[in-house]
Amino acid sequence: MPEEFKVTPWEVTGDIDYDALQRSFGTTPIDDALIARLERYGDVHPMIRRGIFYTHRDLVQILDGYDKGDRFCLYTGRGPSGNTHLGHMMPWMFTKWIQDTFGTDLLFQLTDDEKFLFKDMTLEDTTSMAYENALDIVALGFDPKKTRIILNTKNVQKMYPVALRVAKKVTFSTAKAVFGFDNSTNIGSIFYTTMQAVPAFLPTIDAGRQVPVLIPCGIDQDPHFRVTRDVAPGLGYPKPALICCKMMPGLNGGDKMSSSDENATIYTTDTPKQVKKKVGRAFTGGCVSVEEQREKGGNPEVCAVFKYFYYMFEHDDARLNELAEKCRSGSILCGECKMCLTERINVFLEEHQDKREKARDVVGDMTYDGFEW
Ligand code: TRP
Repeated sequence: MPEEFKVTPWEVTGDIDYDALQRSFGTTPIDDALIARLERYGDVHPMIRRGIFYTHRDLVQILDGYDKGDRFCLYTGRGPSGNTHLGHMMPWMFTKWIQDTFGTDLLFQLTDDEKFLFKDMTLEDTTSMAYENALDIVALGFDPKKTRIILNTKNVQKMYPVALRVAKKVTFSTAKAVFGFDNSTNIGSIFYTTMQAVPAFLPTIDAGRQVPVLIPCGIDQDPHFRVTRDVAPGLGYPKPALICCKMMPGLNGGDKMSSSDENATIYTTDTPKQVKKKVGRAFTGGCVSVEEQREKGGNPEVCAVFKYFYYMFEHDDARLNELAEKCRSGSILCGECKMCLTERINVFLEEHQDKREKARDVVGDMTYDGFEW
């Protein structure tokens, strides 16, 4: 009997069986044939090759349309419940790759309403956290002409009529079945999915013609978009397509990097010293003693440090395999490996933090409908 796991938009626990999740959600695997097809558009991102973005809905239709000259639009988002960490940046980097490869427009939704409703936070807190998160989004280098940031509480005038039309098509019993709500759930939470559905329809509304939308997101967001896809045809909008990823693991060996374990989470604002300390304490696949590890080797499969190279910090497959080999043969020890990762992360963060400061000057130009922060 496999260990119990749970993946919902608000809670991820246990050892996640991603194949089982795909089967139960009913998404389609990104198989070798689809990867071969993606290779026609440019170098396929390692997150696809490595099975991190591993499952989809209607991606083939998006590509078929694109081949016929039908431009699609990207939509992704962030619930501003705290500072941005590397686990958030991972799918955003992938989203940027799609934007660059296909030259697409991008809507980036910040759901300050959602985090107010679902977390113990004030609305002031979630709205100001949205600004902090937006700096990271801008710093990642999305095309400023093609990218618009939505802030739900600011763009509500435009969004509300669309959310209402969605709301009228979703019953309480559907919301309960999909999200597990009960009588103690506040009624804002029950309405919330409609707000997450809206940006999937805005490109069509703004263009005045059917615009296909592709949503890169963590697999945990699929329930929202199942509802969105179900209501789309009845409202005269195309069903949004999805490309979904696994969760970024924590440094503690857990399946998801989460702010609930600060020591196992690297924030974009961390100092080099903090990074060194956190990586230093990471869970590894090493042995108890140096002698034993020299003799038996380590296990990269379970190692959080190796996973960081795999997910984000070593794009070169040959070098990644070499690292795994060295680990298995005992010729590299955990200390050295941790030092390499610390260095990689700190080089990345130094540059990112610089861009993040500069983002303050331009984040105002990238708002949807020109709202003021
Ligand atoms: N609900 C998401 C979160 O909690 C935020 C979000 C809104 C989102 N729209 C999205 C995520 C679209 C992915 C794609 O983080």
